[in-house]
Amino acid sequence: MANARQLFLIVFLLVYCQNDTTALITISGVLDVLKVAKDVTVALGKAWDLVDQNIDFTEVPIPILHKTERKLFGKIERINSRLDDLAYRVDSIGTQSMTTILHTLPERVRLELRLNDLLDYLTRMEANHRRMLKYSTAEKEYERLTLEDFARSVISHDPSSVLNLVERIHAFVAPNRRGITNNGLLELLANAMQEVEGDMMCSTKQSPQQVLYNLYEAIATTELKGQIMVQFSYMMLRLYGKGNFTKEAEHSQERYQERNNNAANIARSAMQKMSRELWKCDPKKHIKGETYEEITNLLQGYVQNEVDLNPDGTCRENCAEYTFTKSHGCYQNLYCRQQRSCSGKIIDCQFFDSDMWICNANPLSGRRYEYIEYENGRVLGRKQGCSRGTTKVDSWWRWLFWHCSYCFCLCDEQGPMSDRYFNMRSSISDIDNNKVVTGLRFVKHNRIIHLQIQQGELLPRMIINASTLEWKPVEDYKITDRKIFNGQDYHTMSWEKRRVDLDDLEADEGHVLTGSIDIYQS
Ligand SMILES: *[C@@H]1O[C@H](CO)[C@@H](O)[C@H](O)[C@H]1NC(C)=O
Ligand SMILES: *[C@@H]1O[C@H](CO)[C@@H](O)[C@H](O)[C@H]1NC(C)=O
Repeated sequence: MANARQLFLIVFLLVYCQNDTTALITISGVLDVLKVAKDVTVALGKAWDLVDQNIDFTEVPIPILHKTERKLFGKIERINSRLDDLAYRVDSIGTQSMTTILHTLPERVRLELRLNDLLDYLTRMEANHRRMLKYSTAEKEYERLTLEDFARSVISHDPSSVLNLVERIHAFVAPNRRGITNNGLLELLANAMQEVEGDMMCSTKQSPQQVLYNLYEAIATTELKGQIMVQFSYMMLRLYGKGNFTKEAEHSQERYQERNNNAANIARSAMQKMSRELWKCDPKKHIKGETYEEITNLLQGYVQNEVDLNPDGTCRENCAEYTFTKSHGCYQNLYCRQQRSCSGKIIDCQFFDSDMWICNANPLSGRRYEYIEYENGRVLGRKQGCSRGTTKVDSWWRWLFWHCSYCFCLCDEQGPMSDRYFNMRSSISDIDNNKVVTGLRFVKHNRIIHLQIQQGELLPRMIINASTLEWKPVEDYKITDRKIFNGQDYHTMSWEKRRVDLDDLEADEGHVLTGSIDIYQS
């Protein structure tokens, strides 16, 4: 009987967030870097106006030339600062992603992806970019020859020039379809990560989709830096009277647009397939109250003789008949007198053997028995020293027909020793202060298990202000308080109502879930 276990349902939603630098990633997040790219492109076009005035700069007096130079360099500096925000995230997350991926993926995949090569190209590009920044912020300290030489090297036909590096980096994302591998890095990575099991994914501390996005963002930002350098170099050479370069600059701009659109489309479609699940690694050592919580004495092993399991004090059945009963007495003050009787429901009894030794546990430990050793050798629990001494417990025959067996059952007993309550009040982040749910954990407070939420302030472009992250205090009530009701404020677990179901909620396209945890009984 009582098979209709009621479903106890917990619905929660969780906005993903990372520990230090946090960003919520959705498909539309791909637009983030694209938006910066667009702004930069417009700014670069305006910078061209400075040097594109149908003036032959070889004939311009030196002081005027210097003035133009300073203006140009000032513009470039401002364009670069537009990148800072992106670049910060790329440095702290992107490169870290790549390093973790390198260690997480099987070697064959690593080789196939040529991630080491990519990392090398990105590093070289970064070195060039740092050099440009130095020149543009302190151009007066450098000889024109140095600047000119730098500009020439950026746009040269040398395979390692910036002009060629951007093409090579792009080839990782969108390889020439005639080549040996038809798939780009992002697609290969997407496939590879689907093979990697949860345990391995936990070391990345990001969802597969986020790993992919970070990698894309790192590549796209690097490409953008390359484009700025190329344009900057053409402008400088134009300024120094080394030629017109209008055609070259236009061509590089067109190629950049092409690469950029292409990469964004590939990233978008690869991300659509990727899982957004985040795995957290198991701690090395579990600590009660810190890494886990306990529901105590919900269903506890319990030994009782058949004679006490039915109202008539008979032994006509066998243990398995008693699937749902209660204690009806203590026949002749036998073993039942030596233990605390179960005042709740007694469930699912089984017969192991007639005679046994029972090692009673210290009641303060929360256990009833340390172990039970049956005469047939079977041991329940872990047999180790029994400081309180074992008790011999023997079943008996009644008039030769009926065996009064000691059964091993489950005891479902509410009381001060049994923490079995779940909070059912909503947990809502401080939406008035623009806070969203960023994490979730189980905590026990006043014997009630709560789903505690972590919240953080939401910034533009779905970034979380990491310094605002906090665990919102759980509701401070006790089940014994006035006007607190079972089934309304909290749920009481029992044998029939003990199933916990954690569900996912998905927002419609163009929406995000931000804020609350709700628990239902159904
Ligand atoms: C540079 O070339 C473009 C077209 O190729 C031309 O329209 C422009 O006048 C040239 N500028 C200078 C300063 O020669
Ligand atoms: C992040 O939060 C801190 C602390 O509340 C605040 O001082 C800082 O201005 C916030 N940062 C942003 C970018 O809003």
